[in-house]
Amino acid sequence: MQYFFILGRIKELSTAELLKFVQFQGGPSTPRVSGPRGQSFEVKEISEKFIILETDKKIDLSFWQKQLGGIVKCGEVIKETQEFLEEEVKEILLNKIKKGKIFFGLSFYSLTRKVPFNEIKDYSTSLKKGFKKQGLSVSFVLPKEKPFLSTATIIKNKLLEKGVELVFLIEKDKILIGQTQAIQSIEEEATLDFLRPHHEIKEGLIPPKLAKILINLASVRKEEVILDPFCGSGTILGQAFLMGYQYLIGSDKSQKAISQTKENMVWLKERFKREAKIEIFQSDVKEVWQRLPPSSVSAIIAEPFLGPLQIQDRKFFSNIIENLSDLYLQAFESFKKVLKPGGRVVIIFPIFSAYGGSAKGGKIKTGVLPILEKISSLGWKKEKLSANNRGSLIYSRPGQKVLREIFVFSS
Ligand SMILES: C[S@@+](CC[C@H](N)C(=O)[O-])C[C@H]1O[C@@H](n2cnc3c(N)ncnc32)[C@H](O)[C@@H]1O
Repeated sequence: MQYFFILGRIKELSTAELLKFVQFQGGPSTPRVSGPRGQSFEVKEISEKFIILETDKKIDLSFWQKQLGGIVKCGEVIKETQEFLEEEVKEILLNKIKKGKIFFGLSFYSLTRKVPFNEIKDYSTSLKKGFKKQGLSVSFVLPKEKPFLSTATIIKNKLLEKGVELVFLIEKDKILIGQTQAIQSIEEEATLDFLRPHHEIKEGLIPPKLAKILINLASVRKEEVILDPFCGSGTILGQAFLMGYQYLIGSDKSQKAISQTKENMVWLKERFKREAKIEIFQSDVKEVWQRLPPSSVSAIIAEPFLGPLQIQDRKFFSNIIENLSDLYLQAFESFKKVLKPGGRVVIIFPIFSAYGGSAKGGKIKTGVLPILEKISSLGWKKEKLSANNRGSLIYSRPGQKVLREIFVFSS
């Protein structure tokens, strides 16, 4: 069986997350969180827009979709073909009739050429005409600006419940046709972002999808202990809770942050009717090791303080970089004491783009925390997550002055 996964906005991040997730599911010694133990996967293809996996047993795609922060939609590959033969597509759609009606939407992810909107419209209309001639009841939804349907459009039209989305993955020498089975939930994101009692915009909230990605990069089992020692209002802990993690610890030096996280976690437990063992306490990161048994934590996942959001002059920046470097190094000393041997730290560093140039430009070095060698001399091993010179993954939004640099270290 082949499955497709459509990558989110930051491809490198989505790819790294999915590959880690797959490795974790498929590893022979890792108890599985879904499906049979030790399922083997073959990564058939990694491209700019999608990843194709092959496996001999069925994947629980709705579970996978809920776990993954960087995947927009996923589904099963139904057919491999060479051209857009209407008869082939009609046959697929005829097999998917729900309640006597054909209701479809087409999405195109092309690696070779831009698929113009008119082409999708003409193709959909022509399919409709063909079905009508056969006396069938048929309707379709069209994408808006892009050649593929957005999750919002799919949800609004209840396309997956009432009909089918066919996805055309266009490569140089072939076309894969897939059927979408699960999509990213906008509702859950919104719930976490806006409805929970506290979300401190001032402190720079980590996007919930990014929190999921960080958690997956840690590759920990649901019954292992996760610590966020800069928990803020608890986004990472909240996501880990929703993903099914059972032992969560959060700390922060701010009492206000602690009260907010506590309230948010109580709210999440009630809202989603789930239980987990959650411990939240106030502590500076330097002392957090005094509050926890040695070697008791499997993963530390954190977005520490990234500096003030207001950008000022050059001198101001050197001070910030120096102060943050100290904070991070002290944090790593503390982490060493609480983390199990082989445990992981998934952590965000700031990149000051306004100071050092754009993330894509060559001047980026000046705006990053210059502490990687120090961290390695403390005995940490850094995983190579990308081909850039620091081995990091970068998360940014257009116009952002402080970018996020993601690292995974193991003890
Ligand atoms: C960027 S926020 C974390 C946001 C959090 N990940 C969230 O999305 O809710 C950084 C947090 O680090 C905390 N902090 C800053 N310095 C600290 C230190 N030395 N020890 C512990 N916490 C600290 C701040 O109080 C703040 O809540």
